[in-house]
Amino acid sequence: MPDETYTKYSKALAFRRIAAERDAALLIRFGRDLYRASLGREDAFYRDYGRYGVNFPTWIASCTAASPAFAQFLEEDGEAIGLVVLGCDERDPSIGRVHHFYIRPDHRGQGFGGVLDDYARDALKDAGASLARLNVTARNARAIRFYQGQGWEEKARRGGLIFMETRL
Ligand SMILES: CC(C)(COP(=O)(O)OP(=O)(O)OC[C@H]1O[C@@H](n2cnc3c(N)ncnc32)[C@H](O)[C@@H]1OP(=O)(O)O)[C@@H](O)C(=O)NCCC(=O)NCCS
Repeated sequence: MPDETYTKYSKALAFRRIAAERDAALLIRFGRDLYRASLGREDAFYRDYGRYGVNFPTWIASCTAASPAFAQFLEEDGEAIGLVVLGCDERDPSIGRVHHFYIRPDHRGQGFGGVLDDYARDALKDAGASLARLNVTARNARAIRFYQGQGWEEKARRGGLIFMETRL
């Protein structure tokens, strides 16, 4: 499904591949907000990705190097409203990973997360995966409910994280 355009509520929704350097500012804004939603604070984003989050776009570039389909913006009428970041297990390519799903706060609760989930399943299957895994912080109740609604199953809990998986 990457790069296909379709419509929802008469607005054009499309996935767009990311150019990590050109899109750096937007990536950092979305990444910072993602950490805030997951952990309730942003400082872990700077801990993981350095001052100003400059290493976040670099990490995204390493994901797109594996496949351009692995990091994409979801755009509505040409404006980015979400981000999906995927990968495959290096040792076992039959296992796909959802690193991040992100929908901008002003677009949440309207079903756009389901569009990211559909995209992720197709992209990971195309990459050869038959199982997908993710983890989510135990405090992120809304995201956990969202994942359960999309058919993800909890497999374990450890260190404040819930590990979930789904067959593709
Ligand atoms: C998790 C996320 C991707 C889901 O996407 P979404 O488009 O909001 O998904 P949905 O529209 O299916 O809504 C998910 C739930 O949030 C509820 N919700 C309603 N209004 C909302 C709002 N303004 N903001 C957030 N969630 C809202 C929905 O009702 C739904 O709950 P329900 O299942 O009990 O009905 C998105 O909320 C998000 O980006 N959150 C912040 C980042 C994050 O936590 N990512 C996951 C961890 S990596």
